[in-house]
Amino acid sequence: MSETPVLREAGATMDGAAVVPMSAGAADAAAPAPSVAPAPRWTSERVLAIRRWTSRLASFRVTRPSGFRFTAGHYARLGLGGADAEAVWRPYSMVSGPGAEHLEFLIQSIPDGAFSERFERLGPGDPVLVEKASFGFLTLDRLAPGTALWLLASGAGIGPFVSILEGAGAWQAFGTVIVAHSVRNAAELAYRELAQAAAHAGARARFCYLPVVTREPGAASLDARITALLADGRLERSAGVQLEVGGSRVMACGNPAMMRELRALLAARGLKTSRRGSLGQMAFENYW
Ligand SMILES: Cc1cc2nc3c(=O)[nH]c(=O)nc-3n(C[C@H](O)[C@H](O)[C@H](O)COP(=O)(O)OP(=O)(O)OC[C@H]3O[C@@H](n4cnc5c(N)ncnc54)[C@H](O)[C@@H]3O)c2cc1C
Ligand SMILES: NC(=O)c1ccc[n+]([C@@H]2O[C@H](COP(=O)([O-])OP(=O)(O)OC[C@H]3O[C@@H](n4cnc5c(N)ncnc54)[C@H](OP(=O)(O)O)[C@@H]3O)[C@@H](O)[C@H]2O)c1
Repeated sequence: MSETPVLREAGATMDGAAVVPMSAGAADAAAPAPSVAPAPRWTSERVLAIRRWTSRLASFRVTRPSGFRFTAGHYARLGLGGADAEAVWRPYSMVSGPGAEHLEFLIQSIPDGAFSERFERLGPGDPVLVEKASFGFLTLDRLAPGTALWLLASGAGIGPFVSILEGAGAWQAFGTVIVAHSVRNAAELAYRELAQAAAHAGARARFCYLPVVTREPGAASLDARITALLADGRLERSAGVQLEVGGSRVMACGNPAMMRELRALLAARGLKTSRRGSLGQMAFENYW
């Protein structure tokens, strides 16, 4: 993902231990100054619970590192299967809200994936490493003010939007919030209960939840890809809102091909991503 910042800094390993540069000359003769190892960049947390949606899609909760701060829409790097350099590290979006006691993540396991294989063996009480910093550009502050917020997700890409909807920001800033979640099979509609939760929240904004199921005929009234639904007008008709540059703000997350195609479709309607000093109307996060 091009927007992912590089986490490693010169002179530091993943566990934060200093890398001592090779030196030459007279200074070599001097006694080495005692070195104090910097604190690790991660903390070791424990799995609290795992919720399976399908055999390959699961949510899991871990203890929250003390002092861990994030903005809804951010991701953290998680490590499994050893300490620091031995662990497999991958980025995962927080699903829980910034105020929650625990951290929650939604993971789509990939066949033969290095992290996925370790994740599949994980159980309550097992350790998970969590890097202390969080990152990301899929946050509300990256969008210009608007009237309708469109959150478009494929697969596990629904996760950051659940976190965003946990907070008050989206509900206060927009008159309408629309979530469209595209999955292959209905069982993968993780957090589908958020539709009810939002209805109960007494939110000022109108909320529209659009499940899209592409490989299980009859499971949902929207059965084509979000890109096709946008192109033929069905997405807007279902939401009862026009997606236009004046008031619509779009966040999209998940499959990179869907992100690429959506970006082109939305750009054709005049929407732009944020640039330095200029807030745009759309923001994307590729998961691979
Ligand atoms: C910013 C960011 C946030 C992310 N957040 C999440 C999240 O919240 N939930 C989540 O499940 N994943 C998320 N991912 C993807 C995640 O980091 C891993 O790439 C994924 O879990 C696979 O890791 P792995 O080690 O099992 O597979 P690897 O051994 O690293 O990869 C195996 C292959 O699968 C491809 N691949 C990776 N992810 C997928 C996918 N989802 N579908 C299809 N192919 C894929 C890779 O390109 C690679 O070729 C995020 C990625 C980024 C960049
Ligand atoms: N979900 C499963 O049952 C399953 C099973 C085995 C392995 N996997 C592994 O898990 C990975 C992720 O699977 P996933 O189901 O979460 O994600 P996915 O393949 O990205 O599919 C999620 C949703 O996004 C849609 N989509 C895919 N490409 C799109 C595009 N270019 N434009 C618009 N919409 C698009 C899909 O529609 P379409 O259905 O039309 O593609 C589907 O509705 C797969 O690549 C595979 O490695 C998943």
